[in-house]
Amino acid sequence: MGGVDDKSLTENSAATNRTSLWGGRFAGGPSEALARLSVSVQFDWRLAPYDIAGSRAHARVLAGAGLLTPDELGRMLAALDDLEAACASGEFRPTVEDEDVHTALERGLLERLGTLGGKLRAGRSRNDQVATDLRLYLRDHARGVAARLIELADALADQAGAHVDTPAPGMTHLQHAQPVTFGHWLLAHVHPLLRDLDRLRDWDARTSVSPLGSGALAGSSLPLDPAGVAKELGFARPAANSMDAVADRDFVAEFLFITALIGVHLSRLGEEVVLWTSQEFGWVELDDAFATGSSIMPQKKNADIAELARGKSGRLVGGLMSVLTMLKGLPMAYDRDMQEDKEPAFDAVDTLELLLPALAGMIATMTVRVERLAAATPVGYSLATEVADWLVRKGVPFREAHEVTGKLVALCAVRECELDEVSDEDLTLVSPHLDPSVRDVLSVRSALAGRTTPGSTGPGPVADQLVSVNEQLADWRQWAAEVVVPR
Ligand code: ARG
Repeated sequence: MGGVDDKSLTENSAATNRTSLWGGRFAGGPSEALARLSVSVQFDWRLAPYDIAGSRAHARVLAGAGLLTPDELGRMLAALDDLEAACASGEFRPTVEDEDVHTALERGLLERLGTLGGKLRAGRSRNDQVATDLRLYLRDHARGVAARLIELADALADQAGAHVDTPAPGMTHLQHAQPVTFGHWLLAHVHPLLRDLDRLRDWDARTSVSPLGSGALAGSSLPLDPAGVAKELGFARPAANSMDAVADRDFVAEFLFITALIGVHLSRLGEEVVLWTSQEFGWVELDDAFATGSSIMPQKKNADIAELARGKSGRLVGGLMSVLTMLKGLPMAYDRDMQEDKEPAFDAVDTLELLLPALAGMIATMTVRVERLAAATPVGYSLATEVADWLVRKGVPFREAHEVTGKLVALCAVRECELDEVSDEDLTLVSPHLDPSVRDVLSVRSALAGRTTPGSTGPGPVADQLVSVNEQLADWRQWAAEVVVPR
């Protein structure tokens, strides 16, 4: 569906002559200032397909209640189909005289059906409509976000598969700590994404509640069928409390928490790529198609995608804050404040739909400089823990083993040598427990090969981890492809 240019809608606002849903008791039209403040159609227009799906279900309910004849229902459904097609093609567009998406679509229906179009509003309010539309929109787009997350996870997992036994200097505090495999490191970025997918599905189950039938807040005196409507719109059940149904925006806040956390995960990945591609690290080279240059420094190759991932986490976190703050202190049931829920929610979806494919492409096409990683891995006495563990296996208490290894490191610093370059005499000088056979554990390969417990960084457990990750991603692909609003 074509977007709506905010400016074209908010400029030339004719405060009079509006297509209003509520003018009956008012002597005149709204002031220009109120109309400008109130209008939301420039951003809520994207809810149109979901609003029309709700209208179809509601029309059937009215017919079931004897409030529309079978002939009227037929004409109503045909007009809704026609309106939907006209919205999709851009032939029908909202104008600034339409306060919101619901107003615009009622106008479209009246244009097609005359007075019959006015029958659809019975038993329904914009309050239950907008809550329904937003649930449908977000449930639908949660699948889209999930699909893009899976593509990024796939790219990371594929790179991990190519580097199951590539050594890398594992870090804590951004200081060399212990050798790890680069595959393990890349998979450490996949697990947060798997948890994000889990959160989306978990959220979706709680969001699968239909507000339609709740009306403005008190339900309806007309014989509606909220359970039937819920089913038709792909919801698990109708709302249990009509006031809660129109007042609840937990589903927006929760969605925004998930997208904020996704933003944080992408930001952390982005920061690492910025480091990895720096001259100082030089572990990764980005494909030209996923890097940018400088307008003044011809030699530059920048990781802008990674930086934008880091930067966009700000607006994702901000969206959550704005909705939580907006909701705080709202009295039951619907309040107009809640119109402010949409832009942060839409922005979160748009941001992730834009960012995730770029990140996935960047990761999929990056070249890992294995030789640079290998050279960096033993730097900084990263095998010291191997010495301590070797002593522990000889029966030395870890406290003492730690002390002894510390002395060995101090000696290496004085001698300006690596751990495995210490002479036999120096070894015994540091501790009688040390002998030349300690050199057997002083290689990155042996350190990594010794990590065999499930979940650890050795090539064996990483290969197992990869199998499991790929199986999980295959399951997630099915969930992401689910259709939310059946037709
Ligand atoms: N545009 C409104 C919103 O997004 C629709 C509901 C308006 N309801 C009302 N009673 N004014 O919240």
